[in-house]
Amino acid sequence: MSKIGRNDPCWCGSGVKYKKCHLDFDRRIREYGSMGAEVPSHALLKTPEQIQGIRESAKINIAVLDYVAENIREGVTTEEIDRWVYEQTVRRNAVPAPLNYEGFPKSVCTSINEVVCHGIPSDKVVLKSGDIVNVDVSTIYNGYFSDSSRMFCIGEVSEEKKRLVEVARECVYKGLEQVKPWGFLGDMGQAVHEHALKNGYSVVQDIGGHGIGLEFHEEPWVSYVSERGTEMLMVPGMVFTIEPMVNMGTDEIYQDEDDGWTIYTVDGKPSAQWEIQVLVTETGYEILSY
Ligand code: MF3
Ligand code: CO
Repeated sequence: MSKIGRNDPCWCGSGVKYKKCHLDFDRRIREYGSMGAEVPSHALLKTPEQIQGIRESAKINIAVLDYVAENIREGVTTEEIDRWVYEQTVRRNAVPAPLNYEGFPKSVCTSINEVVCHGIPSDKVVLKSGDIVNVDVSTIYNGYFSDSSRMFCIGEVSEEKKRLVEVARECVYKGLEQVKPWGFLGDMGQAVHEHALKNGYSVVQDIGGHGIGLEFHEEPWVSYVSERGTEMLMVPGMVFTIEPMVNMGTDEIYQDEDDGWTIYTVDGKPSAQWEIQVLVTETGYEILSY
């Protein structure tokens, strides 16, 4: 992992000698690696300064979603939500990360009912009573990235759909309980999946979460149908998203051929998703964005 000498300054930027800083930490990671575990590279472990930068970005992301929460209602178009997100982001001297990301044309993803994720805002899409909608906001501030999403129930929503929304939220926090150093991402993924299955739902397999912080999408790719003891070792300083897509029916999905973005459920049944961004700390986790 490192050819750094014991008396050299530590790779983490602390200025302290390696032997007094991350030497034992690196040994521990190496041990897991030699037992066959997937382990993070140093590049995935954020320094205190980077974590502070990501926190600042996340504060803006939260504020933008709070603004959406206060204003979203029946009759609003998803284009208006896009405008809110753009304005609320730039007035805080930040940039919406989705805008022009790999050709994405808008500042936010708005995904209604059977749309699983990556819905594109449009002035032709009006929120109506009974809809469930995910608003997925991502921010770049001072070069640091944040990402979280929430569900909103519009007007009178059926008990069936309300329950899907509630269980999807619970899945995130069941997963979060498993986030701690020297555990595995699969511990989190299994907890998410089990809670969805227990409630009669499925979890999308083909789209996952991601590391984030210095880029929008970093390693690792994060599954929510993984198994305990598998996937990447969780180490203090890692930042990633928990964002399972929970479906009422089949987990099968397809992509819109015309716009190249929108993902739908194959059976047309609703899908719900909440996303939080978390930091692995020395003792457990810190929620950065929600
Ligand atoms: N916010 C999405 C995520 O959770 C990213 C969507 S990419 C976009 O990873 F271009 F559609 F915004
Ligand atoms: Co994400």
